[in-house]
Amino acid sequence: MRDEDLPGLLLDWYDRHARDLPWRIPPGSNAAPDPYRIWLSEVMLQQTTVAAVKSYFERFATIWPTVQDLAGAEDAAVMAEWAGLGYYARARNLLKCAREVASRGGFPTDYESLLTLPGIGPYTAAAISAIAFGQPSVVMDGNVERVMSRLHDEHTPLPQAKPILHSHAAALTLRTRPGDYAQAVMDLGATICTPKSPACGICPWRDPCRARAAGTQGELPKKTPK
Ligand code: ADE
Repeated sequence: MRDEDLPGLLLDWYDRHARDLPWRIPPGSNAAPDPYRIWLSEVMLQQTTVAAVKSYFERFATIWPTVQDLAGAEDAAVMAEWAGLGYYARARNLLKCAREVASRGGFPTDYESLLTLPGIGPYTAAAISAIAFGQPSVVMDGNVERVMSRLHDEHTPLPQAKPILHSHAAALTLRTRPGDYAQAVMDLGATICTPKSPACGICPWRDPCRARAAGTQGELPKKTPK
């Protein structure tokens, strides 16, 4: 298996098995992603599971359907709708960011400019630039680190392994369909390449996966003991 076949295998799987999520444009649709909805979902997903985020996302997107609407909201109304999601600094930054974006006339499209906005760190900037703007950004979170450590049977412990795993992820990041590719790796990590008992038998990367060949998938990623 040559490494350049890996993204194609994953995208074929995503075309058949992409999760149906309220902020997601299904693969194959011609609809354009809405940067506001992508940003809102990624901020909510920063420390919260997909299952918990869904209903909050739908309420926010119904009450404030555009970034201009959210920018004009009362602080207390936004904090009240956020109640229960936790990590309340996210809600305060959400409003700050919405007001800045509305005053600039829209979201910036590139990774570096997105990083300058309140509440947007490297993960979120990469996710928005890939999913909303089709840029080949390297999207790294805990799920992607786990998938890369297994695919390459990388035994260097985290956090030292981060730059190694990042370069593996960068080598796979696609110039075609970068947004679908980013979401496909996240779905793979969330549904198949799970921390415990990964479902290797149905994984699109079961043949090229070096950890599966070595039988080490259950030990990876390694972590430096605290
Ligand atoms: N987790 C964080 N962002 C996600 C996304 N866009 N799709 C699936 N899972 C995610």
